[in-house]
Amino acid sequence: MMIEFYEKTKEFHIHNDWISYIIQVFENGHLGNLYFGKKIKRNRDFSHLLQTGERAMAIYPKEQEYDISFQHTKMEYPVYGTGDFRFPALEIEQENGSRITDFRYESHKIYTGKTPLKDLPSLYVEKEEEAETLEINLWDEVCQARLTLSYTIYQDAPVICRNARVKYFGDRSIKIQKIFSTSLDLPDSNYEMIQLSGAWARERYPKTRKLQQGIQGFGSTCGCSSAEHNPFLILKRPYTTEDQGEAFGFSLIYSGNHMEQVEVNTHDITRVLQGIQPETFCWPLHNEEEFQSPEALIVYADHGLNQMSQVLHRLYQRRLVRGTWREKERPILINNWEATEMNFTEEKILQIAKKAKDLGVELFVLDDGWFGNRENDTCGLGDWYVTNFQKLPNGVKGLAEKIVKLGMGFGIWIEPEMVNKDSELYRKHPEWLLQTPNRTLSPGRNQYVLDFTNPDVVEYIYGMIKKILQSAPISYVKWDMNRYITECYSLTQSPETQGTVFHKYILAVYRFYERLIQEFPQILFESCASGGARFDAGMLYYAPQAWTSDDTDAIERLKIQYGTSYAYPISSMGAHVSAVPNQQVGRTTSLSTRGNVAMFGAYGYELDLNWLSLQEQEGVKQQILFMKKYRRLLQYGTFYRIHNPFTEQKAAWIMVSEDKSRAMLGYYRILGAPNQGWDRVYVKGLDEDKLYRVNDDDNQVYYGSELMYAGFMLEYTGERGSNRDFTSELYYFEAIENEEV
Ligand code: GLA
Repeated sequence: MMIEFYEKTKEFHIHNDWISYIIQVFENGHLGNLYFGKKIKRNRDFSHLLQTGERAMAIYPKEQEYDISFQHTKMEYPVYGTGDFRFPALEIEQENGSRITDFRYESHKIYTGKTPLKDLPSLYVEKEEEAETLEINLWDEVCQARLTLSYTIYQDAPVICRNARVKYFGDRSIKIQKIFSTSLDLPDSNYEMIQLSGAWARERYPKTRKLQQGIQGFGSTCGCSSAEHNPFLILKRPYTTEDQGEAFGFSLIYSGNHMEQVEVNTHDITRVLQGIQPETFCWPLHNEEEFQSPEALIVYADHGLNQMSQVLHRLYQRRLVRGTWREKERPILINNWEATEMNFTEEKILQIAKKAKDLGVELFVLDDGWFGNRENDTCGLGDWYVTNFQKLPNGVKGLAEKIVKLGMGFGIWIEPEMVNKDSELYRKHPEWLLQTPNRTLSPGRNQYVLDFTNPDVVEYIYGMIKKILQSAPISYVKWDMNRYITECYSLTQSPETQGTVFHKYILAVYRFYERLIQEFPQILFESCASGGARFDAGMLYYAPQAWTSDDTDAIERLKIQYGTSYAYPISSMGAHVSAVPNQQVGRTTSLSTRGNVAMFGAYGYELDLNWLSLQEQEGVKQQILFMKKYRRLLQYGTFYRIHNPFTEQKAAWIMVSEDKSRAMLGYYRILGAPNQGWDRVYVKGLDEDKLYRVNDDDNQVYYGSELMYAGFMLEYTGERGSNRDFTSELYYFEAIENEEV
């Protein structure tokens, strides 16, 4: 039993071996939060965890009952306007203009398993026994609405999955103005908050700040989760490090506009809110209509940030990603974007593909430029069929067949949500764009966003994409989204429903993806949005990997991949070796360093390998052989961050197999400096008692305890010894039997 209800004290205890989450139904039917954190044992009851009593100047819900004031209490799912002056989790506007609601406990249900969210991505179970779910129903008589709060706990992970639903039963209508997926009140504010923020080409840099009284937060309003702010937040104790101390990870399984906010009140109670961004949201409900929020996860770790990340990685790899590619080694691919951009011919592509095949690459990806009159980024988007037979005389089909004949898979780039004005689609249907009447429509990368809330638009685009996927042997699709949404308004929605457009848009994207993966289950999808602007848990439900960033420079990637790893698994990060000097930053790094960084990811190349010297081509061949040999470990091991490239002139991380018998350490120097001291890495995640051989060298055999506590001594030779910038090494540790020494 992971979820218990104590009738006498009206307490819910949601727990497993790691965590306890405790909710209490107050006498008046409101819900309070008593505790969330490391597992605690129940003695007589938990009621002492509720701190109550009359306080000066406080507002109370009822006359003569000066016990629980919402201002001073940790509320479970706070509402606006009745004495809790902090930001609410729910706000509903009623027909008379009032936004006051009063939801009281009505009933609850506890069941084994987990119900998937409707039309939204969510974690799933394979066997019912893996999880238990609690649903609490609350009723507001005046509003005639039911609020259902749902909590799922998994048997073997310190995680709570949450969402909220509102159903309206009246005969008029209500408008949901705010509905967060998570609202969590914590009893003190001695936390630091970490967010993953950045911009195009430098996505998901961890930024840390101390909580202060007042509101601190971030979010997106641009129609996708964004490069600027990822829908993910950490609260950690000031003393928490990568390997010690408490941390909470909050992750929203959603790809649209989101908001993460932490409010500390005057008594140092901390409130965390995470969910759909209210600024761009308003959802009307009529009789019997229901709205469900996206799912949010709260992970608790008491062994530091690495543990928190590992919990999320595992859940995402095993209970969010679905289909053929779940937990499967990802093909080593070559993408032509940085090699040719849109300027290619079939002949050119075949040259690139042939060389790649010779060196061991498994999949060729044809990027932007194959469709319509796509000569440059001012034209062609929206016309998902080949019209330029100078480029592709035999269409996509002809090229794909030739590539498959070479013995490689074939993949293709699409950007289904977008249109250029210079396209057949726009000429036929200018009304299919998201656009506000009588307002200028702001361009972005010369393109505009299609109105996916209009089913005709979606059907038309889906028809074209399906046709191309059916017409050729395509085993991989890169789905891009290269501009943010502005002037968000749909010509097919009523004035009353314009506030639903952003959310309906992303629901339509999800539905589109779902149809594609059902119809083409063998295809591996990679999501992309100008690099990593939609790298979120929502997308991972459909596309098991994402293009991490348009910045392919190895040193920049150290930071981006390091930051991304706080929330997302290594198997989900598209990472390619590209040409030098690097296109984005002009930096030159060795082929080996470029490979050593990208191998901690869904590995590939993004250059014309014919450009390389014979020696470098041999280097690529060796990299690919190496990657194939260690790919399972590198993509599905347990990942530990060791040295932080944001704070040091070096980075290090390690992947350890689940049974701790194998591990791969990546060690990277950023800037070299003369006459440096000796260096050692305190390795993580090994078995203390196992003997490990390093790089298959019988002269380098050490116990796990030595490697972790005394450190692994790095030799002062080779690339590293030369003190040069941007050098790196990979070290492979394999457990051996004692007799082998
Ligand atoms: C985006 C992607 C790139 C590439 C281009 C093509 O920027 O992130 O990888 O596909 O679009 O236009």
